[in-house]
Amino acid sequence: MPHGITWVGPKSLSLEISQWSQNFPGTLVGAGTCGDQRGVPGIMSSLLISNEEREVRRICVMDGEGMSSSDTSTFYLTLHNSVVIPRLGLGTFRSRGEQAKSSVLWALQSHYCLIDTASIYKNEAEIGQALRDSGLERDKVFITSKISPFEHGYDSALLAVGKILERLDCGYLDLCLIHWPGAAKLDVKSEENAVRRTETWQALEDMYKQGKCRAIGVSNYTKHHLEGLLSACTIRPMVNQVELHPYLPQTLLRKYCTENNIVVQAYSPLGCGNLLSDPLVSALAARYNRTPAQILLRWGIQHDVVVLPKSVRKDRIQQNAEIFYFLLSKDDMECLDGLDRNHHFCWSSEEIL
Ligand SMILES: NC(=O)c1ccc[n+]([C@@H]2O[C@H](COP(=O)([O-])OP(=O)(O)OC[C@H]3O[C@@H](n4cnc5c(N)ncnc54)[C@H](OP(=O)(O)O)[C@@H]3O)[C@@H](O)[C@H]2O)c1
Repeated sequence: MPHGITWVGPKSLSLEISQWSQNFPGTLVGAGTCGDQRGVPGIMSSLLISNEEREVRRICVMDGEGMSSSDTSTFYLTLHNSVVIPRLGLGTFRSRGEQAKSSVLWALQSHYCLIDTASIYKNEAEIGQALRDSGLERDKVFITSKISPFEHGYDSALLAVGKILERLDCGYLDLCLIHWPGAAKLDVKSEENAVRRTETWQALEDMYKQGKCRAIGVSNYTKHHLEGLLSACTIRPMVNQVELHPYLPQTLLRKYCTENNIVVQAYSPLGCGNLLSDPLVSALAARYNRTPAQILLRWGIQHDVVVLPKSVRKDRIQQNAEIFYFLLSKDDMECLDGLDRNHHFCWSSEEIL
C-alpha cells in the first residue's frame, strides 16, 4: 500500500487498489467491495477518496461487464437548492460532554461528513470543539442542528439560530431544522401550533437568505404538516427528518417527500438499537457477513434516505460507516420492507394539529 493510504476494504482487493492508486496517485483513502467472494449477490464496487480533501474523486464499479466509473451519488444526495448532503451522518442524541466530543472526532476520522445535533441535545459546544480539534476545514463537514419546540415563533426562532451558531462557533449551519411541528406548552390539538410553526419557518427563510443556513427543513413532519408548510412558504423545505427503519418504513411519507423534492433523513435507523436483534436482520447479517447495524443502514441507503446512526463507541462508529461497499438484493430489500408494523420507538407527531 502506498504511503498515506488507509485500507478499509477486504484484503483480497488490496492488490488491485494498490494498482489503482498508482494510476491516481495521492487520491486513495478508502476502498471497499461487495460481491462474489462471499457468495453474496450484488456488484463489486470500490471507491477512491481524496486523502487531503475528503472528497470522493472516483468510484469504480465492477460487474460482469468490467469496470466503469460512477459519480459521487453513491455517497451524497442533492437537495433541491443544489446543496450536496452526505447519505450518512453521526447521530448525537444523548451524547454529552467528552463523550459527544470523542464520538464526533472518531466519526470524522472514519470519514463521516455529517454530524446531526439539536439545541435540546445540549452538546453543540462540544461538537463545535471536536470540529476545530479535527483540523478539518469547515466546508468538509456538514452540520445539522434543530430549533426546539421551546423556540417556536419568529423572534424566538431567530434568536435560537443565533444561539446555535454561537454554541457551535462554526460560522454557519449546513442545515437547520424545525425539530417538532408542535410548540412546547401548547395542547397538541391547538390551532396555534400551525400559526407558530409558520412563523418559525419565516425566521428560517430569513436565516437562509442571510446565508446563516445553507439549507432549511423540518423534522417529525407528517404529510398534513408538510401540506400546510408547502402552501404557506416562500422557500420550500429541503429536508424532512423522521424516525425511519424497517418497522417504520414511512412508505407513504417518503413517496410524498420524493414527489415534492424533499430529502428524507432517517433518525433512529437502528430502531434505537431494538432492531439489531430482529431474527431477519440477524439472518441477513450472517449471510452477507455484515453486522445487523450495517444491514439496517444499507436498507436505508438503498431507499435513498440519509441515515443517522448514533453511537459513542469507536468500533461501532467505524463499522456503521462501512455500508457503501455492498448491496442488498432486491428480494432481501423486500423481505426487510415486509417488517413494517408502523411502530415508533421514539414519538409520533400524528396528533399535532
Ligand atoms: N429529529 C428527531 O426528533 C430525532 C429523534 C431521535 C433521534 N434523532 C437523531 O437520530 C440519531 C439516531 O437515532 P437514535 O440515537 O435514537 O437511535 P439509533 O441510531 O437507531 O440507535 C442508537 C443505539 O444503538 C446503539 N448502536 C449504535 N450502533 C451500534 C452497533 N453497530 N451495534 C450495536 N449497537 C449499536 C447505540 O449504543 P452506543 O451509543 O452505546 O453504541 C444506541 O444505543 C440521534 O442520535 C439523533 O441525532 C433525531
